Amino acid sequence: MRTPLIAGNWKMYGSRERVGQLIADIRAQLDPNGRAELLVLPPFPYLGLVGSQLDGVPVDLGAQDVSAYSEGAYTGEVSAGMLADCGCSHVLVGHSERRTLHGESDELVAAKFIAAQAAGLKPVLCVGETLEERDQGQTEEVVQRQVGRVLQEAGIGAFSDAVLAYEPVWAIGTGRTASPVQAQAVHAVIRAQLAAEDATIAGQVRILYGGSVKPDNAAEILAREDIDGGLIGGASLQAESFMAIYRAANQVC
Ligand code: PGA
Repeated sequence: MRTPLIAGNWKMYGSRERVGQLIADIRAQLDPNGRAELLVLPPFPYLGLVGSQLDGVPVDLGAQDVSAYSEGAYTGEVSAGMLADCGCSHVLVGHSERRTLHGESDELVAAKFIAAQAAGLKPVLCVGETLEERDQGQTEEVVQRQVGRVLQEAGIGAFSDAVLAYEPVWAIGTGRTASPVQAQAVHAVIRAQLAAEDATIAGQVRILYGGSVKPDNAAEILAREDIDGGLIGGASLQAESFMAIYRAANQVC
């Protein structure tokens, strides 16, 4: 059985003080018998601070983005090697806010995925359709194209050391969630796409759901067969709601 993963994407929120308090509150609510794993994804400047507060604590640290390059004259970029050096184990690639607000292509996302793994990080590959694409019946096609590009460039073997996140763009930060049935259907499509290449890897890879997951809808989403955790934005900024989702994962997964 796949171990559930609850990941907190803090986006561009926080301050030294707020981040410090959030981690202290998360630590206080960890369940030593809980099955779910936790991952936090602070903004770059707070990685060191959060990493030091998580020393010896079973909560993983990740970043929200990474450069496709390993080093060089790329002002403002941060390499996967630097993230690993600062204690990160994971990094998001292809979050929809990167794809839409920063014009990241499937090709660039695949390059970032490969760069992350080359430095020993686990990429969390985010995919998802816009509302327009869903309304036009293109959900499967879009998600399969996004996953397919990484499969093509990195190979199925790379997915044994990666995480996927299905995040319908229309559900992110909007208060609208995909219904558990809608989410499960897309998760099953993604798993089948991977299974066509390697059934064992497909059976083991974790596929998180993201998009307005809150304490009151977490349990029914996380209970679905192919949903192995959550990528939580807004609700991860308060320890109370983030840890309520973690407790739901411990109960249902
Ligand atoms: P949300 O964000 O939970 O605020 O919808 C999810 C995400 O963007 O990762």
